[in-house]
Amino acid sequence: MTSVVIIGFGNVGQHLFQAFEEVSGASVVQVYSRKEQLDLDDTPITNSLQDLTEADLYILAVPDDIISDFSEQLPFSNRLVVHTSGSVSMEMLSEENRKGIFYPLQTFSKDHEVNFKEIPICCEAVYEEDLELIMSLGELISDKVVQIDSEKRTRLHLAAVFVNNFTNHLYHLSDSYLKKNDIDFDLLKPLIKETAIKVQTLSPFEAQTGPAKRKDRKTINKHLELMEDREYRKLYRSLTKSISKTHGKKL
Ligand SMILES: NC(=O)c1ccc[n+]([C@@H]2O[C@H](COP(=O)([O-])OP(=O)(O)OC[C@H]3O[C@@H](n4cnc5c(N)ncnc54)[C@H](OP(=O)(O)O)[C@@H]3O)[C@@H](O)[C@H]2O)c1
Repeated sequence: MTSVVIIGFGNVGQHLFQAFEEVSGASVVQVYSRKEQLDLDDTPITNSLQDLTEADLYILAVPDDIISDFSEQLPFSNRLVVHTSGSVSMEMLSEENRKGIFYPLQTFSKDHEVNFKEIPICCEAVYEEDLELIMSLGELISDKVVQIDSEKRTRLHLAAVFVNNFTNHLYHLSDSYLKKNDIDFDLLKPLIKETAIKVQTLSPFEAQTGPAKRKDRKTINKHLELMEDREYRKLYRSLTKSISKTHGKKL
């Protein structure tokens, strides 16, 4: 049984807690949170670093910009401490403890359920036996556990920003454009779903459709006229250019 302390009970901390609760082989022996009023049944909670209990693994699920300082404040040494960030290098963790990474590649929001079995967990550690422990722990909750170094993880995170954050921002822009024009965003949901499903079997290159790929200048110009906002036009032009360049057509 691997004992785990989860430090930080936000989006990731809460989902990890839930995932470990559902399997045997791992036990969350304590949660650190600044909020004392959490109700976690039998799991002890602390808001004091001095009271952190002994465990096989400490998972730092705190914001990226405090990971380094936070790891320096841990009041023990030579224990295994990992963080869950896609973009922070393992080197940023304190030298006082054994370092590692446990990065679940998914977007997490507190009140939105996820199926951990489908979530890739990217692992890294300085020592081989720590890596084995981290990966075995990952395999309890996920079917896809991979070893990947900090440089590749950061590049993977960058790609994740493109497919998730940028795409979602485009959803938001569409939503707000449709609202202004009194059209229901729900009408786009089957298209959003199909776009995501299609790249499970086709490459994104093969799956591309639309006026930019077809070099359909008439439609493109019409679209540009329908946008009052300069920022929208700028983005539309830039993405159109990128698609047409990718598909070998100059517009
Ligand atoms: N969200 C995602 O989709 C996602 C996906 C993969 C990886 N990650 C990574 O996972 C890590 C955590 O992200 P998250 O989305 O779970 O963040 P989050 O929801 O903001 O939660 C962060 C947690 O850290 C605590 N915290 C913040 N500042 C603190 C401080 N100064 N001292 C002590 N505790 C502090 C917060 O406590 P309070 O509640 O008391 O403020 C909260 O419990 C980050 O490294 C992130 O890059 C996130």
